[in-house]
Amino acid sequence: MATDPKGKSPAAKQAAGDASQPPPEPQARDARRDERIARLRDSLARARRVCVLTGAGVSAESGVPVYRGNEGLYQAFSAADMATPEGFARNPEKVWAWYIDRRRQLLEVKPNPGHAALARLEQLMAAQGRAFRLVTQNIDGLHQAAGSRDPVELHGNIWKTRCTECGTVSGQYGEIFEGLPRCARCKALCRPHIVWFGELLDPAVWQSAVRAACECDFLLSVGTSAAVQPAAGLIHMAAANGALVAEINLEETANTRWVDLSLLGKSGEILPRVVE
Ligand code: APR
Repeated sequence: MATDPKGKSPAAKQAAGDASQPPPEPQARDARRDERIARLRDSLARARRVCVLTGAGVSAESGVPVYRGNEGLYQAFSAADMATPEGFARNPEKVWAWYIDRRRQLLEVKPNPGHAALARLEQLMAAQGRAFRLVTQNIDGLHQAAGSRDPVELHGNIWKTRCTECGTVSGQYGEIFEGLPRCARCKALCRPHIVWFGELLDPAVWQSAVRAACECDFLLSVGTSAAVQPAAGLIHMAAANGALVAEINLEETANTRWVDLSLLGKSGEILPRVVE
């Protein structure tokens, strides 16, 4: 009998929502979702140390495009041109114009109830003396705008720039400029303070994320395709350290079949019901 990373049997897979089963009737589906939301709420209430990993899906209901899939940014833009150091070296004007466009769009959006629920969960757990760490792949700053304190930003932040020579990081929310930004210290060209494909994450940032994933007893993955490493590896690290793992995502991911609890749907609708 084939099992998976959590050593689940087919029966257990069915309980966790196996896609090979015919879709249930709407009422049955809603009842099952309600039951799962209640289970997630209970598991969260019992957890001592929680790590939440978020991706672009948590910002989708704010109007921020995700990266993959039919509506994803990479449908219209080449990641090789826009999200690699080589692409930036080839054409920094084009890359900066893209990031400035994305900054402008972000000035038009607000955090959604999913962001707010995670900020509330952080406060609730702090008040109860329980550990909570939010680790995000998002660069949009919407978690902070919703009140989350000091999320681990794995992939950087769109409102920050970094000097290509001296490494000085600067920039603030709302800054829109034309052309190429120069370093205030050494006048060299600045680049977006974002982790691009082929680049390593900041070691200190990565270390905080690994610690949060390995020390937690409950990891909740929200709105990520879990397609990008090393971020996606955090989910497996938590499982390997015995943590309960749950996932909220609009579509199935590579982890859906093995996590302890999978809720398919919009995080802006589900999270507020989980964090009451
Ligand atoms: N609620 C929950 N999940 C959602 C919602 C929603 N409202 N809308 C979309 N999703 C899900 C999609 O089904 C998809 O699985 O969010 C996921 C977003 O996946 P990606 O677009 O791959 O984004 P992400 O996982 O954050 O990408 C990781 O890749 O491109 C790099 O550096 C970039 O941080 C990014 C990393």
